[in-house]
Amino acid sequence: MNRVFSDDFVADPSEEPIGPHLMPLTAHADEDDALVVGGVRIDDLVAEFGTPLFVYDEAHLRARCREAVAAFGSGASFATKAFLTKAMARLATEEGMHLDVSTGGELAIALAAEVDPSRLVFHGNNKSEEELAHALHVGVGRIVVDSFDEITRLIAFGDLGSTRLSVRVTPGVEAHTHEFIKTGQEDSKFGLSLARGTADRAMAVLREHFGEAVDGVHAHIGSQIVDFDGFVAEIEAVAPFIAIHDLRLFTVGGGLGVAYLNGEVAPTITQWAEAIRVACKGAGIDERVQIGIEPGRSIVATAGMTCYRVGTIKEIEGIRTYVSVDGGMSDNPRPVLYGSGYEVFLARSMSAVRTRAVRVVGKHCESGDIVVDEGRLPEDVNVGDICVTPVTGAYGFSMASNYNRVVRPPVIFVADGEARVVVRRETIEDLLRLEP
Ligand code: LLP
Repeated sequence: MNRVFSDDFVADPSEEPIGPHLMPLTAHADEDDALVVGGVRIDDLVAEFGTPLFVYDEAHLRARCREAVAAFGSGASFATKAFLTKAMARLATEEGMHLDVSTGGELAIALAAEVDPSRLVFHGNNKSEEELAHALHVGVGRIVVDSFDEITRLIAFGDLGSTRLSVRVTPGVEAHTHEFIKTGQEDSKFGLSLARGTADRAMAVLREHFGEAVDGVHAHIGSQIVDFDGFVAEIEAVAPFIAIHDLRLFTVGGGLGVAYLNGEVAPTITQWAEAIRVACKGAGIDERVQIGIEPGRSIVATAGMTCYRVGTIKEIEGIRTYVSVDGGMSDNPRPVLYGSGYEVFLARSMSAVRTRAVRVVGKHCESGDIVVDEGRLPEDVNVGDICVTPVTGAYGFSMASNYNRVVRPPVIFVADGEARVVVRRETIEDLLRLEP
């Protein structure tokens, strides 16, 4: 199978134990060198809940939400596409965040978590009439308008109630990231063009019908971005639009990247926020304009890890060693979609040097089913071992599938020595439920 790896995502295999920057806040090794997160030993968790398993450190999730709120107050929305369960929606809003939802499904989960609808921001390049009607009916705080067809639908509803509107614009910025997750360029399905005047026309029509309720602008240049140039360029591109239309809210979007590999570093949310503030000031954006951000990955990625059990080890002499685990592209499609690299380690040997080069693969029926393309594990890795991939808290569970009719793993939150199931493991009955 022909797999294309982007330069940005090429793995840099390291033999060192996993760096603390890739681990959840409360992770540490106990006296047996075994991994403990949230005060719970991973092997105890696995004994109770089985594998594969998504484990999230609640303290880490809360710390990242607090960091975003400290910087932007109610302008900080958590992008739920990165990871959404009712428990996560509650946690993020308890910590003061608003929530970005971009489908009727995400909206429904946020509402089921009893999140105040005024804290919801509704996104999407193709919101259906039903989705818009529901969003308006429940009174979401804001809808981010993305097309003229959507404007036609909104006008047909007539009354927005308490909902306010932002216009999503394409700032014409090429973010330095993987092709599939760039969104700020002119050639995009998202947003309305600043350069071509489309965004101005949308604003004029919306203002004519909805007046002062149209008070915001939104842009999002892409995801997994670790340098600030693109954000600065975005802010400079959007600033004149804010002034011309006398807007009150500028949402800079999400997109802050995280480190996935030992050798990588990424800025903190606080550093990102500071760069945004400086750029907004530099671009002459009025101080009364509220600045917002919409981080997804940077809130949840490092808080979460996936635990698998090693099932088979196959050495192909002169070529490589395949270590097969009991999950794969159904719980983490990112390697096959974007060529993303991950680290891997054994939960029982946290400080072990990882000298054995391996390719960790899943149990699906295709060769692209790779969990860690160029991984390193300790020499004594064995069938039955629990191996862990860190930094899987974003876009893993949320993009999980039932490919090959595998059941999706449960999600466990750990905190203060307690583990709670926030999503139970799927069962074969769940798989069959939809079939008459
Ligand atoms: N706001 C909007 C409008 C977005 O489209 C996104 C992500 C975010 C915020 C959050 O971006 P973040 O902070 O998470 O980068 N599945 C891909 C990522 C797709 C991102 C889609 N939009 C991946 O696994 O890398």
